[in-house]
Amino acid sequence: MNTSRFRTFVQEMTRLVQSAGDDEARLLEEGKKLLSALVSHDDWLPEEFARPHPDHYQQYLLHCDPLERFSVVSFVWGPGQTTPVHDHTVWGMVGMIRGAERCREYDFQGPGRPLALAHEHLLEPGQVDLVSPRIGDVHQVSNAHSDRPSVSIHVYGANIGAVARHVYVPETGDVKPFVSGYSNTALPNIWDRSVEARRHLVA
Ligand code: FE2
Repeated sequence: MNTSRFRTFVQEMTRLVQSAGDDEARLLEEGKKLLSALVSHDDWLPEEFARPHPDHYQQYLLHCDPLERFSVVSFVWGPGQTTPVHDHTVWGMVGMIRGAERCREYDFQGPGRPLALAHEHLLEPGQVDLVSPRIGDVHQVSNAHSDRPSVSIHVYGANIGAVARHVYVPETGDVKPFVSGYSNTALPNIWDRSVEARRHLVA
């Protein structure tokens, strides 16, 4: 398990939010490179944070910045599972690490008006999708595989599980508030560096 890969990502994202502040364009441009590098390797995500649920997708919190400037989540899709059409209200990056996702992006045209499907594409390992209220924030994400799980790593500009967001009925334009929460109660321990430290002990 290459824990240092994720620890380094968390450190670099922390430096980025610290220096970029509210500059969302810079956050997404530089964050996309960091996330793309992270999801180009599938050797660091502990198995318990990649475990699907038979009935619905899972959203495991992997890290939350102490000042809640960003959070990192693993999304785990069982075969054929899908999200409702939803928004985020903050910037977000979706990095594919295992399997594939189908992303449908919608234009919200006001309450009570049907949503227009703007774009549909497939996301494959190493690729990163971007969302935000500025560049397009309403989408639906599904496992592109009907016979195996898919996993993606998401980074958001807030403690996303506690953000007041919305789900949409695309046919009618009906909007409902929701708060996603998380599927896990314990986070991965990426800070046990004792093996490395012991190497430097004098016998
Ligand atoms: Fe989303």
